[in-house]
Amino acid sequence: MTMDLSPVNLREFERAARDRLDPVYYDYFAGGAQDEHTVRANESAFAAIELVPRILRGAEDPEPATSLLGCPSAMPVLLAPTAFHRIAHPEAELATVRAAARADVIMTVAMLSTVAVERIAEEARGVLDGTDPKLWFQLYVQPDQEFTRALVQRAESAGCRALVVTVDSAALGRHERNDRNDFHQLPEDVQCENLRGLGGSDSGNVRRVTLSPEISWQHIEKLREMTRLPIVLKGVLHPADARLAVRNGVDAIVVSNHGGRQLDTTPATIAQLPVLADAVSGRIPLLLDGGVRRGTDVVKALALGADAVALGRPIVWGLAADGEAGVAKVLELMRSELENALALCGVSAPKELSRDLVALRKENSRSREVQA
Ligand SMILES: Cc1cc2nc3c(=O)[nH]c(=O)nc-3n(C[C@H](O)[C@H](O)[C@H](O)COP(=O)(O)O)c2cc1C
Repeated sequence: MTMDLSPVNLREFERAARDRLDPVYYDYFAGGAQDEHTVRANESAFAAIELVPRILRGAEDPEPATSLLGCPSAMPVLLAPTAFHRIAHPEAELATVRAAARADVIMTVAMLSTVAVERIAEEARGVLDGTDPKLWFQLYVQPDQEFTRALVQRAESAGCRALVVTVDSAALGRHERNDRNDFHQLPEDVQCENLRGLGGSDSGNVRRVTLSPEISWQHIEKLREMTRLPIVLKGVLHPADARLAVRNGVDAIVVSNHGGRQLDTTPATIAQLPVLADAVSGRIPLLLDGGVRRGTDVVKALALGADAVALGRPIVWGLAADGEAGVAKVLELMRSELENALALCGVSAPKELSRDLVALRKENSRSREVQA
């Protein structure tokens, strides 16, 4: 499928995807919990932050390359885990991983992927002349510890380089769009391939993903015993939890509200980032996802203390719009926007970004003063 007019930015990819997707699937991807306040806040909070560039610094051409948990990446932008790529495009995660591998960025494979993690890794090796792909694996801790162990071992043997444990999902968020559309079952040919054999589970059920409401720090300790992979906690918003994560030997955290799909009215991730950066104070890498749509958003997140960001919906929109080529274009646009933003800030590498380059928009700070 080739597009007549190529989108020129990530938001236009959403429109292109919407034109091609079944409206029920579009709603599944776009939607969030309840009133979707947090979905909107994630994006609008970026717009409320101003960039205050430096000048005449003789900066060299920007080089956005970075390294996370020992894994090099062409830019500090990862693919966040998103479930069910097959309902976005028939080539599913295979198209996504080819684009990620060619762009030399890290893809987080969702536990709920519709292609098995081993097959995704093999596809990536295919475009990388057999070299090891840059894959992380996202896990929802399962009530059945032996199934969790088996999944972790599968991810490790497939060559995944980190385990991203999603910790904001003791229960599923309430997605009213899905209820309105009565979307609760995946089509028969779409299955969560990593869940086959999980006792009592229906791997095609959209809403009956088995979660562990009783999940606690003890589960993280157990995971530590199960694997030598770095453990990344995804879904941290409270600074006390960030401090506990450091104390419990977690290797990195992702400041995330699950793209507004879990608890509605949580703060926008970019608004919460500074307090988490202070809590962690550089002891472990800090990642952020939620509402990142522009190169300038990446610059703002890095200036406020993130080491990298991740894209959720924009990757799905690229995939739905044009398969591998769509995801490739999303990543290419992001890279060139990021290079442009770095150059215009007078900075030549992500690590040079600092808090003095950002400011809260005046009317925001005024309204904060009024509230205080
Ligand atoms: C359709 C969709 C499916 C998702 N599936 C998962 C998942 O299976 N596991 C997970 O940890 N996060 C999942 N997420 C959350 C993303 O990893 C990420 O936190 C979020 O999408 C970032 O916000 P953004 O979409 O505004 O970029 C999903 C998000 C979307 C939009």
